[in-house]
Amino acid sequence: MTASAQTAAPMKLFESDIVNIKEGAPSTLSVPERAHWLCAQLEAGNILFFPRTPFEISSADRETLLGQKQTSAAYHKNVAYRPAEDRVTGLDKSESAESEQLRTILRHYSQSAATFLAELLPPYANQWKLDYASYRPIEERSRAARLHARNDLCHVDSFPTRPTNGDRILRFFTNVNPSQNRIWLTAETFEGIAPRFAESLGLPDALRTNPFRAMARALGLPGARRSPYDHFMHQCHNAMKEDAAFQQNSPKRRWEFPPDSSWIVFTDAVSHAVLEGQYALEQTFIVSRAAMVSPHRSPVAILERLVGRALTIT
Ligand SMILES: [Fe+2]
Repeated sequence: MTASAQTAAPMKLFESDIVNIKEGAPSTLSVPERAHWLCAQLEAGNILFFPRTPFEISSADRETLLGQKQTSAAYHKNVAYRPAEDRVTGLDKSESAESEQLRTILRHYSQSAATFLAELLPPYANQWKLDYASYRPIEERSRAARLHARNDLCHVDSFPTRPTNGDRILRFFTNVNPSQNRIWLTAETFEGIAPRFAESLGLPDALRTNPFRAMARALGLPGARRSPYDHFMHQCHNAMKEDAAFQQNSPKRRWEFPPDSSWIVFTDAVSHAVLEGQYALEQTFIVSRAAMVSPHRSPVAILERLVGRALTIT
């Protein structure tokens, strides 16, 4: 459990840790056993760390990514790539040349990440939905943002516009900055924080106890696809950022991801914050809950044990 990205003392305070792919996997495992082991590590709240990005990003692509930063005030927090539509969002309409270049780069990154993960983690392959990729060109240190959009406060991920209904949020990140580390904090996993926030927020209602939501679903109204699980996770994301005592007192670890490293993590379970860094790429996978090798560790399973009933839409 050591990694060059680790700067804190190697003391295991809680589950979240880094597994360096080269050092971490037991060499005696067969290929299927290794894949299962890697999935189990991720589901336990570990981060799979690659000191070198495991597929090529050409120097021309890297130059393009780095070169446009100062020239364009049009960059938003994220430039997103939607694989299903082969479309880039997050740039002003006037930036059509940049948009086309970024579309090509992000398409390649998205496809490379998906191919790589399918080989690395076969239990998840074909059991995921390829979600958005993104480019993060803004320096995270001291970046101004409204409270709930701040990256420097520990949180678990939840997408209000893309409910997962209990499926998992797995993210592959790459630091494309040639000289600057990307610095993260991790705090407790969802397993550790769920009882506390379930108590402060109130346990999520089961579907049958909410007639308005059931009616909205029957009518096909916008937002009706959001399950009690999704509703709770979004509330939890916000409550964690609002909770100054949690931010201050929760035990944390600090990680430095060097230039050209990559890492994989279930960000719906590992509470995380980004303190510093500029120029990162990321691909999100929504992995079926049914594909987990340790299904009891999924946030939805943890919550359903607390509530005593199902929290998803069937
Ligand atoms: Fe996040």
